[in-house]
Amino acid sequence: MGSERHTSVDEHTRSILVPHIGRQGAFVDALHDVQQAFGYLPEQALRVLADELKLPLSQVWGVASFYDQFYSVPRGRNIVRVCTGTACQVRGSQAVLQRLESVMDLKNGETSADRAFTLETVNCVGCCGLAPVVVINKKVVPNRDVERVIGDLPKGNEGDE
Ligand code: FES
Repeated sequence: MGSERHTSVDEHTRSILVPHIGRQGAFVDALHDVQQAFGYLPEQALRVLADELKLPLSQVWGVASFYDQFYSVPRGRNIVRVCTGTACQVRGSQAVLQRLESVMDLKNGETSADRAFTLETVNCVGCCGLAPVVVINKKVVPNRDVERVIGDLPKGNEGDE
């Protein structure tokens, strides 16, 4: 079972890497493409990437773990971010976060077991006039709508898009 899964990850990763083989500076682009395909960077995919791009695995791991935009664990299909930038802090983002943690039964940084949701915080998203702000997937939700959005959050598998 485990080796079948590896084979599938290996094949998928190799197909993703085809356009990057032999290309100068392809490494970070390749990481992005692998993450786009899997939703995160599976360890086995990083091994294949290191092998295909002829890079030391330690370098691949180092870069993948250094940048915030790369994820080493699976994330939810829906990403709920509470802005904790200064303006949002001043206007009650901690209370919004606590409320969402309660409603979603998740702590900050956690993903639900069914992988429908990830709850996390984000720094200023540039909509300070709407503070406190929640971003659901890529949609900014202003203060006046937070209560409705909390109430409308789908539960369990309803989160599938
Ligand atoms: S501090 Fe939250 S949008 Fe700027």
